Amino acid sequence: MSNAAAASPVQRQPELLGQTVVVVGGSAGIGFETARRARAEGARLILTGRNHERLQRAASELEALTTVAFDATNPAALDQFFRGLPDRIDHLMVTAGSPYYAPLADPDRERAHRNFDEHVWLAVAVAQHAVGRVRPGGTLVFMGGTGGRRRGSGLSLVAAGTAAMPALIANLALELAPVRVNLIAAGFVDTPLSASLLGNQLENRRNQLRDTLPIRRVVEPTDIAALAVHLMTNTALTGATYDIDGGQQLVA
Ligand SMILES: NC(=O)c1ccc[n+]([C@@H]2O[C@H](COP(=O)([O-])OP(=O)(O)OC[C@H]3O[C@@H](n4cnc5c(N)ncnc54)[C@H](OP(=O)(O)O)[C@@H]3O)[C@@H](O)[C@H]2O)c1
Repeated sequence: MSNAAAASPVQRQPELLGQTVVVVGGSAGIGFETARRARAEGARLILTGRNHERLQRAASELEALTTVAFDATNPAALDQFFRGLPDRIDHLMVTAGSPYYAPLADPDRERAHRNFDEHVWLAVAVAQHAVGRVRPGGTLVFMGGTGGRRRGSGLSLVAAGTAAMPALIANLALELAPVRVNLIAAGFVDTPLSASLLGNQLENRRNQLRDTLPIRRVVEPTDIAALAVHLMTNTALTGATYDIDGGQQLVA
């Protein structure tokens, strides 16, 4: 290779040019950053979230094609949303939901059910709706976590949900083939959700992670977005769970 060739910058086409990417939960955090990255790669965006104003702000910043405000755990609203989508979707990511850390002595049964709906059941429902709508070779990307792999008091429900998702995603990948289905398992990510869960402990937690994580920094939503777009574009990937936690599960 000549010196001139070695010094040339990499030239490439945007990886999602003209493709339609739907982000259920695209108005904040991981979903928003994934939408931003997909847009930078040339995608047309369809964004959802429950809060209309926040969704509109996100949509105008990212020049989204369409937004639909609804609660993704509402089966009728989800059904209506899919019926309103274009005939062909290339990729769909789900980032709705939050964890529920329930002490066994006093679990809130309704919250526990809602948590199941937000993760396991939502993935099943989205997969059902994706049939014939997501193009062959397109993807479904779901969010899971690594934190629930720990064993401890108050973690029983979150651990069960965490264990269920990789098994569900692997089977969905077979059932939906040639649509590809993958799961991202994150540790702490610095998002509005983490801020709301940690409150005034947020900065302490960031500092603790900077000190202890093998990567010596906090994982950001942009890190997850990079992985999510890679899962959309690398056609060899399906049925798998991708850990992205800066090594958090390796340290106490
Ligand atoms: N942050 C972390 O440390 C972390 C770690 C592991 C896994 N995860 C998982 O990754 C996903 C995204 O987390 P995040 O931190 O990016 O959360 P976030 O900052 O709260 O953003 C969540 C997005 O989803 C929307 N949303 C939430 N519930 C919804 C629902 N029922 N229907 C429709 N839209 C909904 C939110 O908008 P509205 O509130 O307006 O609906 C927002 O756009 C979650 O499933 C979370 O459990 C997060």
